[in-house]
Amino acid sequence: MRYTDSAGTRPGQAPDRVVYLDHAATTPMLPEALSAMTEELGQLGNPSSLHNAGRRARRVVEESREQIADVFGARPSEVIFTSGGTEADNLAVKGLFWARRGNLAPGGSPARPPAARPAPHRVLATSIEHHAVLDSVHWLAEHERAEEHWLPVDTAGVLRPETLAQAIAADPDAVALVTVMWANNEVGAIQPVPELAAIARDHGIPFHTDAVQAAGQLPVSFAASGVDAMTVTAHKFGGPVGAGALLLARGVQPVPVLHGGGQEGEVRSGTLDAPAIRAFAAAATVMAQRRDDEAARLAKLRDELIAQVLAAVPDAVLNGPPAGPDRLPGNAHFSFPGCEGDALLMLLDAKGIACSTGSACTAGVAQPSHVLLAMGADEARSRGSLRFSLGHTSTQEDVTALGAVIGEVVHRARRATR
Ligand SMILES: Cc1ncc(COP(=O)(O)O)c(C=O)c1O
Repeated sequence: MRYTDSAGTRPGQAPDRVVYLDHAATTPMLPEALSAMTEELGQLGNPSSLHNAGRRARRVVEESREQIADVFGARPSEVIFTSGGTEADNLAVKGLFWARRGNLAPGGSPARPPAARPAPHRVLATSIEHHAVLDSVHWLAEHERAEEHWLPVDTAGVLRPETLAQAIAADPDAVALVTVMWANNEVGAIQPVPELAAIARDHGIPFHTDAVQAAGQLPVSFAASGVDAMTVTAHKFGGPVGAGALLLARGVQPVPVLHGGGQEGEVRSGTLDAPAIRAFAAAATVMAQRRDDEAARLAKLRDELIAQVLAAVPDAVLNGPPAGPDRLPGNAHFSFPGCEGDALLMLLDAKGIACSTGSACTAGVAQPSHVLLAMGADEARSRGSLRFSLGHTSTQEDVTALGAVIGEVVHRARRATR
């Protein structure tokens, strides 16, 4: 789909229509979510207030909670609303670590007699996690004397179950928690989460998964997966930015990160955002109804996109799993040898195509992607990478538009680096 550019670009300098290939960053709100949110914004009431207006808002929140629980195969009581994926990841990683270090089992009861052994202090996470998890684990290591253990992935970006099993077996009592994302945001690699969660469960170790990228594209079921905690966020599947949830299995009690009114079962504080939560539920419901058809449609478009890019740039490298069941249907990620990702992005942007580089920017300096490095790519391959991500508004026209310019753009970027 093409959007009118409202960024105020000078006439003649940039196209006024944008081919949006960055749905993994955020995707347009679904009309159903937009109208639910707009209507609710006109209403008054804090869901925690006892008067009529408050009770009305509370009904909205609880009905939304039921819908969201239903979509993700959870019980309503297992849904803890947060301000999005970043907060949910922080709550899961820090909160579960603190709960375990306090010698509390996931259910809140003492796991073993105090001082019998040092409390579990090791955090197992893949080296391809989103920064919301990655940096939470680093923070625990720096400030809370956690021991970080980074689980290696294979060259496609997938964690093998035996890798997790070995890491736990080395000293199961030392492991405070395991966190493995359901699908990677850069290269779209889908992890075998139910299998991984079963390994942790055999040792009584809590297992968290960041399902932010998976939730809108895969049939994600909290109960069936066997995980203890799962992060989702609305803006990746047509809901608003700033609304998410941490799903927590019965009895799993992270120590809170935010303190205050204790609105979400004493686990999370803050006035509940009824309009955003209602829109989150509306988006989740519509997304779930269409998900299977959409996934098949996007996978076809993605395959077409991959074919067009490789036809125009034969030495481009598709990063991540091959197009198929191990890859998110909407994800295509390439390295373009001899190019800088930033240069490619800006050249494409000038042609009205929005995508994303694989590398992060720290203090204005492009850093190689930690995901590609973990998959064994060298710095050059990691720097010259781009992610194209498709979503509910993507069309064949978008793919054709990219295919028409990518060859020339790569050629120009290569000339610029010589
Ligand atoms: C895998 C993953 N986890 C967490 C987040 C953070 O979610 P939010 O933007 O809702 O804070 C993102 C967002 O890009 C993501 O892709």
